[in-house]
Amino acid sequence: MASILLGITGGIAAYKSAEIASLMVKAGHSVQTVMTESAFEFIGPATFAALTAKPVVSSLFESTPGYPLGAHIELVEKVDLFCIAPTTANLLAKISHGLADDLLSTLCLTYTGKLLLAPAMNCEMWEKRVVQRNIAQLKEDGYYFVGPEDGWLSCRKTGTGRMAEPATVFKAVTDLLTQQ
Ligand SMILES: Cc1cc2nc3c(=O)[nH]c(=O)nc-3n(C[C@H](O)[C@H](O)[C@H](O)COP(=O)(O)O)c2cc1C
Repeated sequence: MASILLGITGGIAAYKSAEIASLMVKAGHSVQTVMTESAFEFIGPATFAALTAKPVVSSLFESTPGYPLGAHIELVEKVDLFCIAPTTANLLAKISHGLADDLLSTLCLTYTGKLLLAPAMNCEMWEKRVVQRNIAQLKEDGYYFVGPEDGWLSCRKTGTGRMAEPATVFKAVTDLLTQQ
């Protein structure tokens, strides 16, 4: 029974995050979802609020009931694992440089435990040297990764960039939790 922070960024694969949240909840974990503004373009917060039985948090500045010190501080307390699935190229770039301009990226700085990233993007984005540089930096900094996988991409191409399947992400989560 663990406490998991589930981050969702703005990529097509965000629809698969509902399955990841569901697998976590079914395993008995407590899941708090944090979405970026872009993620709302791909899937609605009501889905995650219902699956996790907790309101989704997204804003750094709007006062969130229950978080008088700021959600970026209080949401990381007593969290066993922080998993961001999908992780966009944009978030990879931001966190590899320590940028913190929204709630999710700020949480990446305030959180001190294991952080698992499931990148998902078009194959051209994935192959960009800057993206690979950011990933290499994040690996060196101790971030954990699952995927991406090869296969069919929503841009109607086959290549690398597909988010790891929900069951694979969930297995990576379980493996990291067991290592603790
Ligand atoms: C239809 C559509 C699909 C997208 N899919 C992805 C994706 O799979 N991966 C990615 O890195 N960016 C994708 N993007 C671009 C991101 O949404 C964009 O970079 C956004 O700024 C990400 O914001 P976030 O990282 O704060 O969530 C997509 C954009 C659109 C319009």
